Amino acid sequence: VYKIDIKNTRANIQPTMWGLFFEDINRGADGGLYAELIKNRSFDFPKPMTAWETWPKNVRDGIFLITKDMDPNAKDPKFMTVSTSEKDTVGLVNSGFDGIYFKKGLNYTFTLQYQQVQPGIHVRVFLINTNNRPIGNASMELNAATSKGWQEQQITITPNDSAIVGKLLVIFEGEGKLAVDRISLMPTDTWRDRPGGLRHDLVQKLYDLHPGFLRFPGGCIVEGNQLVHRYQWKNTIGPLNDRLLVQSIWADDVPNRQTPDYMESFGLGFLEYFQLCEDLGASPMPIINCGMSCQFDAAEVVPLSQLEPFIQDALDLIEFANGDVTTTWGAKRAAYGHPDPFKMKILGVGNENWGPQYVERLDLFTKAIKEKYPYINIVNATGYSRNIPVFTYMDSVLRKRNVDIIDEHFYDTPDWFMRNSTRYDSYDRKGPKIFVGEYAAQTDRIGSQKNVNNLMAALSEACFMTGLERNADVVSMAAYAPLFAHVDGWQWTPNLIWFDNITSYNTPSYYVQQLFSLNKGTHVLSLTEGGRTINALDSIWANAVIDTSTNEVIIKVVNPSTSAKRKKISIPSIKDQSVKSIVTVLAGHPDDMNKIEKPDIIKPETKQETLKSNNMVFDFPPYSLTVVRLQTA
Ligand code: AHR
Repeated sequence: VYKIDIKNTRANIQPTMWGLFFEDINRGADGGLYAELIKNRSFDFPKPMTAWETWPKNVRDGIFLITKDMDPNAKDPKFMTVSTSEKDTVGLVNSGFDGIYFKKGLNYTFTLQYQQVQPGIHVRVFLINTNNRPIGNASMELNAATSKGWQEQQITITPNDSAIVGKLLVIFEGEGKLAVDRISLMPTDTWRDRPGGLRHDLVQKLYDLHPGFLRFPGGCIVEGNQLVHRYQWKNTIGPLNDRLLVQSIWADDVPNRQTPDYMESFGLGFLEYFQLCEDLGASPMPIINCGMSCQFDAAEVVPLSQLEPFIQDALDLIEFANGDVTTTWGAKRAAYGHPDPFKMKILGVGNENWGPQYVERLDLFTKAIKEKYPYINIVNATGYSRNIPVFTYMDSVLRKRNVDIIDEHFYDTPDWFMRNSTRYDSYDRKGPKIFVGEYAAQTDRIGSQKNVNNLMAALSEACFMTGLERNADVVSMAAYAPLFAHVDGWQWTPNLIWFDNITSYNTPSYYVQQLFSLNKGTHVLSLTEGGRTINALDSIWANAVIDTSTNEVIIKVVNPSTSAKRKKISIPSIKDQSVKSIVTVLAGHPDDMNKIEKPDIIKPETKQETLKSNNMVFDFPPYSLTVVRLQTA
């Protein structure tokens, strides 16, 4: 018999408890969440013809020429010049991110930036299908004035058929000389119909998780494999041309796939991240570089004497998010379309940084941030959260400083996750709060194709999460990682949501996250069997919470064993009465996984029934997570 005491709550559950970790890894942003269909749209990749081909393939020499601005501060250093004679009909073909998906009848916005050097060239745009046939086209009437400098124009193209692996062809004909830069193609069915926005189906999946927070932009991309590749938020706001491309750290760490051309375009930049948080109702948690590159290689560190601009970036970021329109950075936010502050309360300094070199930099950041913005909660990195010397060192240093929040990361076996559901039972209740900033069960080594999102991995995460929830007085936030992966362009396994250019699917881990998040409750209750807390008792992991706004008791039970378990739930303080129950079960074979072609092999099923309070008996199937909601009043 499971006994639940609803009179005495053990801890408050923070609204932020279950959230999201977003990073542009596995094409999470470019070629993923950011809906741009053209790869290397401004010719600014290290190899400027990446994803482009000329049409025909062997055009006369001198027609296409890339100009590179040698100013080291140039934000958009390269552009293409097309020089044609009267008889020429030539083109540029872009194959997108391994092909472009066109949907019949959907409007696409084509944007061209151009400069008339010698007017006379006419531009026609074709959407090409898998068989190299046009399925949509439009002409663009260019402004002939040479005096106007760079101009930008848009047209709408609607394909009369769908194409799975399509291309964009831009034709230039007639005599003239035209400089072209950002060549963009965007679907119009973006999230909230925002022009140049985010892929609808992917944001919807995030929305359906009701996340308490969104951590962005990473992950290792915050650090970069060298400081020059670190994430610099100021380069990701304002006009797209000012968003200087950076080579991603994931470009050269590719166990399975060769993606040397992984560039961050920052079309999804910091304003868009904050706006996404607002849309999702999630608390924004940006992470900034602390003056160190990724420590998995020998890190580059910024000398302490030169750290000031990095700290200023942090202070300016808070002003950008929260300052009113009379402040310098608040005014920029307003000018870019968002006068209202974003009410940011949490800021991370560094990601997976550790050692005395991190601590001395962290101290300087903390002093400056707390002096100006005492209300900001700082997330402090620790690196790998195992009982290894570097973690023990970081934990003790951070605890001595009584920091706000410590960020712990776990990538380990399903067995580890089950065994470690008790990890936080013994943590100091008065010390720093814990953010479990990244975790995911690994069925094989990271990056292996055999490292899969099966049901067993998801259930082991659920076991661990019962422990996080039970310790909600210590653990204030947690997020699975990584969030997204393209089925044809990943560097890391496993991931929460997989997608291709057309569609996407939820993993069993996604449903575990969703079931915890939608059934978060407000306070932890005591749940015991024979006087003992249920933690791997009888091979079951469980936790109970109450939602005081609805008076529902919510019990999450994980049964990762081979046999069904029957338990009676007793809530002594409820008199004999009818109790409405909603029971949601995620169950199946431990090896079950969802796939693009079969997205619904594993998904939760819900049933409702009215029970007698003195006879609330439940069967928990083998390999299952069950969430029971009981209406107690
Ligand atoms: O989630 C993938 C990576 O794992 C993150 O970028 C990094 O923080 C961790 O090592």
